[in-house]
Amino acid sequence: MLHHFSTLQVIILAAGKGTRMASSQPKVLHRVLGKSMLEHVLHTAEDLQPESVCLVAGHGIDEVKAHIGEPENLFWAEQKEQLGTGHAVLQVEPLTSIADLALIICGDTPLLTSNTLANLVKSHQKSKATVSVLSAIVDTPKGYGRIVRDDKGNVSSIVEEKDATEKQRNIQEVSSGIFCVNRDALFKYLHQVGNSNAQGEYYLPDILPLALADNQVVQATIMDNSEEMLGINDRCQLAQAENIMQARILREWQNKGVTIEQAETVRIEASVNIGMDCTIKAGTQLLGSTHLGDGCIVGPYAVLQNSWLADDITVAPFSHLEETSIGDQAAVGPFARLRPGARLDEKVKIGNFVEVKQSVLGKGSKVNHLSYIGDTMMGENCNIGAGTITCNYDGANKHQTIIGDGVFVGSDTKLVAPVQVGSGATIGAGSIITKQVQQDGLTLSARPEQRHVKNWIRPKKGSQ
Ligand code: UD1
Ligand code: MG
Repeated sequence: MLHHFSTLQVIILAAGKGTRMASSQPKVLHRVLGKSMLEHVLHTAEDLQPESVCLVAGHGIDEVKAHIGEPENLFWAEQKEQLGTGHAVLQVEPLTSIADLALIICGDTPLLTSNTLANLVKSHQKSKATVSVLSAIVDTPKGYGRIVRDDKGNVSSIVEEKDATEKQRNIQEVSSGIFCVNRDALFKYLHQVGNSNAQGEYYLPDILPLALADNQVVQATIMDNSEEMLGINDRCQLAQAENIMQARILREWQNKGVTIEQAETVRIEASVNIGMDCTIKAGTQLLGSTHLGDGCIVGPYAVLQNSWLADDITVAPFSHLEETSIGDQAAVGPFARLRPGARLDEKVKIGNFVEVKQSVLGKGSKVNHLSYIGDTMMGENCNIGAGTITCNYDGANKHQTIIGDGVFVGSDTKLVAPVQVGSGATIGAGSIITKQVQQDGLTLSARPEQRHVKNWIRPKKGSQ
């Protein structure tokens, strides 16, 4: 949901190495359903429509920058040495901002929703607090900072697990690591935070006691669904986050009129779009920026990546589509492979064991069995027989095959590119076409003579 917080600066912490991921890639670039954790968090931040978003990067900053690009309203701060979350936030201080509130979130919490963040900001404003923390009540608080409250139930501090006493470790209210803080106060207190703790780090949560000592209001907003704050530190948590997000995404599409058969076997990534009355069958994967119009039936066991489908298209089992676009009422598969640059117009039919690459197939054309169509421009209403191959590669370069409208190509024909076939032409089965084919009429290459050996006897099994 879109919000509007024009006096808010969002600060995203993403400088850590993510040692527990055991990866050469910075942690926040690992993907959850096709989008990096950081992209998820950035999109959530953008939904708040804040004054600005500031990203604190450090470990692998060049890779992170290359991945994110240069979105409008995004500012970068570099934390050269990872000395703790408090130190990370301090790197933002030199960036000028007219915002009076800062919302600090971590780059490794992809399940967070903008509504939850908006609730935190609103309750911060309502309670006239200087520091607010988003907390959660959990069954297993292990690994999180614990929220310590005084006798009256007011928040007094956050204690990290490594610094906590046995008694404090039993506290079930934990910090999500997400804070809303008045911006001036934030930097004032951060300068006073020390690092004498178990990890020798400058902890952001240590601003709480400083604000309290300064007679400021400090409060915790308890989130409704603690699932959202899952911080990804290792690959088990990465898988857990995917499962939670997948359940959310499937539910969303089901509510928008998509039938999903055996939903637990289906993968639908975060950037996919699906029209009404589509049916997604078991084991199907819709990946990347794949778009389905209305009334499409896909699978079982089809994989569609970055592909654009119009309405009423059938993709039969075990088909693999990558960077393709398909017009209304086309039918693909079973066992079809559409590679990048395949464009099928309306009502095209691609059958089993057919591969199409970097080619346009005009309206109503059919390639039903066992063919390779590459670097081809094909007109409308052609019928390409079984086993037809466009020989597009001479070992060094790729060449084009151009086929007009209404062409009939007999089975087992080789079209040796570059070559052109005129509209209305018919090519005899088994032809090897190396020269331009005239329009209309029949073209066929010389065939080996057919012989009959009259008294030939078929060998019997076991006879010498
Ligand atoms: C942190 C909080 C803890 C909270 C938990 C919630 C502190 C000290 N601890 O612990 O209270 O319960 O998150 O998930 O704040 N980062 C930097 N620079 C640094 C250190 C960290 O940018 O120097 C970034 C990391 O990249 C990460 C985030 O800050 O995105 C949190 O760091 P992490 O090491 O995961 O902290 P936790 O131990 O999970
Ligand atoms: Mg963490």
